[in-house]
Amino acid sequence: MNYYDQTAQGYPELHKEEQIKKIKLIKENIDIKPGEKVLDLGAGTGFLNNFFDNITSVDSSEELLKQNKNPTKIKASAEDLPFEDNSFDWVISVTAIHHFELNKAIKEIKRVGKNNFVITILKKANNKETIIKKLKENFKIKKQIEEDKDIILFLTQ
Ligand SMILES: C[S@@+](CC[C@H](N)C(=O)[O-])C[C@H]1O[C@@H](n2cnc3c(N)ncnc32)[C@H](O)[C@@H]1O
Repeated sequence: MNYYDQTAQGYPELHKEEQIKKIKLIKENIDIKPGEKVLDLGAGTGFLNNFFDNITSVDSSEELLKQNKNPTKIKASAEDLPFEDNSFDWVISVTAIHHFELNKAIKEIKRVGKNNFVITILKKANNKETIIKKLKENFKIKKQIEEDKDIILFLTQ
């Protein structure tokens, strides 16, 4: 059982407010067209579900996914995504990339996504600089927003 499985019960109460703040900022800055498909990578309990349609939630924690009300949810790892190439119009990942094996996950994100990506990076993550460097090597940065806890990157291929 990983850290998130062990702490799953308390997660929403602890983090809801700060995560919703980030998601509202994301929503204000993107324009998802009707019918476009969204991958929520490292979705956890699914805070994104109330803000966007057509979401596929992916997370490696079974316990967090149990709390995620999205019927389209899959337990999987960011490093090995069970989707065809170009499956999603948008890949959104909120405060999760610091847990991923970076090179593998970035390759998978680029493979399953088409051309719109939003990745938020926890400012206090130990590997924040490495994450930003790798993302800059792999994507074009359209916009960058610094909020209280995360840096939000809006990316294209
Ligand atoms: C800080 S939580 C954020 C959850 C959600 N995005 C939110 O905003 O509430 C980080 C999430 O990443 C997930 N995670 C960690 N490593 C993962 C991996 N390799 N593949 C998929 N999900 C992972 C955890 O289970 C957890 O749900």
